[in-house]
Amino acid sequence: MGVAGRPDEPVTLVIEAGGAHLARLLAAVEARLRDIAAAAGGPVAGWAGATIAAGGKRLRPLLVLLAAGEAPAAEVPLVRAAVSVELVHAATLVHDDVLDAAALRRGRPTVWATDGRAAAVATGDHLFARAFSELAANDDVEQVRVLSRASSALAEGELLQRADAWDVAVAPERYLLRCELKTARLFEAACELGEANRPPPAAAPQLGAFGRRIGLAFQLLDDVLDVSGPAERTGKHRGTDLLDGTVTLPLILARAVDPELAALDLRAVRTAEEAERICDAIAATGALEQARERALRLVAEAKELLPEELDAEQRRALLLVADGVVARYA
Ligand code: IPE
Ligand code: IPE
Ligand code: MG
Ligand code: MG
Repeated sequence: MGVAGRPDEPVTLVIEAGGAHLARLLAAVEARLRDIAAAAGGPVAGWAGATIAAGGKRLRPLLVLLAAGEAPAAEVPLVRAAVSVELVHAATLVHDDVLDAAALRRGRPTVWATDGRAAAVATGDHLFARAFSELAANDDVEQVRVLSRASSALAEGELLQRADAWDVAVAPERYLLRCELKTARLFEAACELGEANRPPPAAAPQLGAFGRRIGLAFQLLDDVLDVSGPAERTGKHRGTDLLDGTVTLPLILARAVDPELAALDLRAVRTAEEAERICDAIAATGALEQARERALRLVAEAKELLPEELDAEQRRALLLVADGVVARYA
């Protein structure tokens, strides 16, 4: 469910604005991702290949490339950094679909759904391992540390989410912490890795806080899309979060105004039809607009955090990405 062919998708606008240079780097990222997936042994090559071939927005590698600025130090290490972030992302999605019992991703059946838990675990493990071997080739231990910290945060966030499962009274702060850990930290890492590949003299990283804010906004919007659907647009089944006990901001907000939702026992929601009905009830409270507003505020904050020194082109592209994370369909 890639966006490349969809002219109205905000990320497409960024790629167009970035011109031939950005398009060439993204094509190099794509080619390397395919090679890495194909190089896996046995059936993992097929599963990893299908995961990569299913596309996705490639938002994190895009951030790496944009954070490196107009004239990156060297293209090969920059592409490696972008590839490594996307591989960590792909690995976590394959594992996430096991944890979330998700049957559909990017409009296609998940590895977990077609081939089971062991296949998905092995595929995710492979993608994780290759992410780090790819980045290690840059010979910069600090870059490996950045990706490793984000990956640990991600795992911590996913575990917190499991620990919170079915708890409809979860505090909004706890929900936000989970989103920080499982999503925002990888966006932050993407920006930092791009900056680590700027031409010398190396300046202190400045875009991490921007990445973190838009990452948080991105997850808030993702959680809105889980309730709003439709699956034809998001590539994921509507109500997946409810069915696996994941309580997100729309339900947290809706419970405050709808007594029936406040009394809801999530474990009693078992079928896709029941989940759709709860999604409709949540939407009827206006909670989706409220959550979207919150995401928009985070994006506004992120834009304020962009440093003065950025050149005009880089600023324009990063502003488009920031707007894109809350204007997306998938
Ligand atoms: C999905 O990320 C996981 C979240 C952090 C919400 P994306 O929506 O960026 O996934 P793809 O790569 O575009 O499919
Ligand atoms: C993000 O959370 C998953 C990761 C950061 C691994 P979700 O569970 O909401 O992501 P989707 O909806 O499955 O893409
Ligand atoms: Mg999920
Ligand atoms: Mg989701």
